[in-house]
Amino acid sequence: MPVNILAISGSTRQQSTNHTLIHIIAELYAGTANITHFEGLSTLPHFNPDLDNNTPPPAVTAFREQLRAADGVLICTPEYAMGVPGSLKNALDWLVSSMELSKKPVALITASSMGEQAHASLTGTLLVIEANLPEASRLLIPFVKAKVKDGKITDESTFQEVKAVMASLLYSLT
Ligand SMILES: Cc1cc2nc3c(=O)[nH]c(=O)nc-3n(C[C@H](O)[C@H](O)[C@H](O)COP(=O)(O)O)c2cc1C
Repeated sequence: MPVNILAISGSTRQQSTNHTLIHIIAELYAGTANITHFEGLSTLPHFNPDLDNNTPPPAVTAFREQLRAADGVLICTPEYAMGVPGSLKNALDWLVSSMELSKKPVALITASSMGEQAHASLTGTLLVIEANLPEASRLLIPFVKAKVKDGKITDESTFQEVKAVMASLLYSLT
């Protein structure tokens, strides 16, 4: 039976390379994994501890429910201004108290022009909220626009690295 993976793109851009990556991975693993793209990142309210109570905003409840229902999570994100895109960090801040990512197998792909800072920062955030994120489930893809083009991963070593990260994520789910 296929596993359920919720994919979160840190880009809210319509023509996003990170969306394309998620799409490519979803097609590659069709039959093994149902990879659903989380569509609600840009409509999550700004994190506010005052709203993080027994009746959080409905969009937050829906996000948390989708995470609980998922066997694993795939995050693909660019870097903005040497850091994590605000909308992705905002989404993760909503999970600090509710801990949906605790022990949850997560793969992190930072696909950007450079990306080191966002990758390191996100790794720290995910580990502090207890995500199951082994090193083999982390991948930095710099110069991504030269490697993912026309709906394909055109760089062979990047293609192999993506497959290795997915193998690690799927292994964590067994
Ligand atoms: C406002 C802004 C700031 C950016 N800052 C960085 C940065 O600090 N480091 C980096 O690697 N790329 C940076 N970029 C480039 C994007 O990360 C890059 O274009 C990436 O491929 C976008 O991902 P997407 O195609 O999934 O939207 C920035 C782009 C924008 C729009």
